[in-house]
Amino acid sequence: MADSDPDRRKFLQIATCAIGGGVGLVVAVPALQLISDPAGKQTITSPSAPFDLGPAERFRVGEPPRKIEIVAPVIQDAWTAARDVVLGAAWIRRVGPGANEIDARSATCPHLGCAVGWDAARGNYLCPCHDSRFAASGDKLTGPSERGLDALPVQIVEGRLKLTWERYRTGQSTKERL
Ligand code: FES
Repeated sequence: MADSDPDRRKFLQIATCAIGGGVGLVVAVPALQLISDPAGKQTITSPSAPFDLGPAERFRVGEPPRKIEIVAPVIQDAWTAARDVVLGAAWIRRVGPGANEIDARSATCPHLGCAVGWDAARGNYLCPCHDSRFAASGDKLTGPSERGLDALPVQIVEGRLKLTWERYRTGQSTKERL
């Protein structure tokens, strides 16, 4: 049977549109939130807080440098979080008896980024990739690297060694932070 009441027909049209629009919003709002959600959040790609490398007294004058892996407990960006991420490594050496006389060098070769090792027989650092050598002080000795090993910021706080991890551009003579 045909509906002959115009008011009733209009009411049904409006009600149908309202219900349809409501259903559309219920679906669209969460979808838009999902797509745009990370846009307003802070993206963290590397930790800026200093790493606690333990008691400073464990590094003694005259001992060879000690390699310490720098591991971030959590690396997080807007989409994912990863735990125990190895960022790189640092060579730590006590250069004098004073409280702050600790030297830290990035183990990342300034030439093209290979991992630099300690050559105990020769008392200096060697990069196995292209044979760059660096003195115990970090200064460049031989090889294609255009600069010495990069010093990393360290400080001693209440007897504990704190290191700030930084990365530098490779393949150039100047130290430039990434
Ligand atoms: S990467 Fe170290 S010498 Fe080339």
